[in-house]
Amino acid sequence: MRTQTSSAVWTAILIAVLALQLSFASAAAIGQETAVADSESAEVSGEERPNPAKANDGDRPRPVEKARRTYMGRIVAQPMSHLGAGWLVRPERNDEENAEESFERLGLKPGMTIVDLGCGNGYWTIPMARAVAVKPASEDASEVGESEEVASTNPASDESLDGTVLAVDIQREMLQKLRQNMIRNKVENIQPILGSVDDPNLPADQVDLVLLVDVYHEFSHPESMLWNIRRSLKSDGVIALLEYRAEDPQVPIKPLHKMTKAQIMKEYEASGLKLVREYNELPWQHLMFFARDDSPLETIEPKPFQTN
Ligand SMILES: C[S@@+](CC[C@H](N)C(=O)[O-])C[C@H]1O[C@@H](n2cnc3c(N)ncnc32)[C@H](O)[C@@H]1O
Repeated sequence: MRTQTSSAVWTAILIAVLALQLSFASAAAIGQETAVADSESAEVSGEERPNPAKANDGDRPRPVEKARRTYMGRIVAQPMSHLGAGWLVRPERNDEENAEESFERLGLKPGMTIVDLGCGNGYWTIPMARAVAVKPASEDASEVGESEEVASTNPASDESLDGTVLAVDIQREMLQKLRQNMIRNKVENIQPILGSVDDPNLPADQVDLVLLVDVYHEFSHPESMLWNIRRSLKSDGVIALLEYRAEDPQVPIKPLHKMTKAQIMKEYEASGLKLVREYNELPWQHLMFFARDDSPLETIEPKPFQTN
């Protein structure tokens, strides 16, 4: 009796276990089918799957940051006052820094949306605006031998196709000097923007290139600034960073206003940016190009700086 009862109990347990296994197996199979059906329906309808990271930068939350005196082992410099703006447009600047060479390396093209961040009085902003503008009709005509009449019907001469420079600074006085510079040079495709210490007020996902010349080391909120800059970039957009070389004792600039490549790499990688290009032939500066770490642009390794 005892034996009969226990064998009946064991049979019941066995049936229950078998039933449980069956239900797990079918649940797994249904889950798989659902996933296949989802990917097929997306392919059939031709819709792209939304990339949530791209839509709102949800992968990188906006940093909460106080003004810093130091960042990742370096001292943060004070911003240069507008009272020293004359130094930025000194006649010998191009010879000292070979700015023309750096400018060529930016690869600017008509129609681009670009940013001069920490623009000062516009040493870089004015030529940047000219480079992204569509050439005036008369220039087109002289270049390709067209008559002015023909050139004026050419869509390439339409000002509405001009690219734009968003020129950001935190000092109103610098933007005022920039405006005077724009009038003197008859350049209009520049939008001056008053930024704050942690936010350059840029649109999201629209920018082809952000130029940072001799300013990044002055950011009191470097993490927040890089977060906002990263967010402004198109997927193939880049940051062009020019900083005086700290590895090089020949560069006659105070150490506080110089940076090493290693320090730059450490800070940019920590902000979700990757090195995609560099130019190592300038007399005083590093020129490094960074893209978002989810950009299709290929990552490169930085070439170590070598003194001659
Ligand atoms: C040394 S100047 C360089 C100006 C210009 N890039 C050039 O090379 O001629 C640095 C400029 O960056 C500005 N600046 C500093 N921190 C900034 C920030 N967080 N956002 C925007 N501009 C900033 C300063 O006000 C100053 O005009």
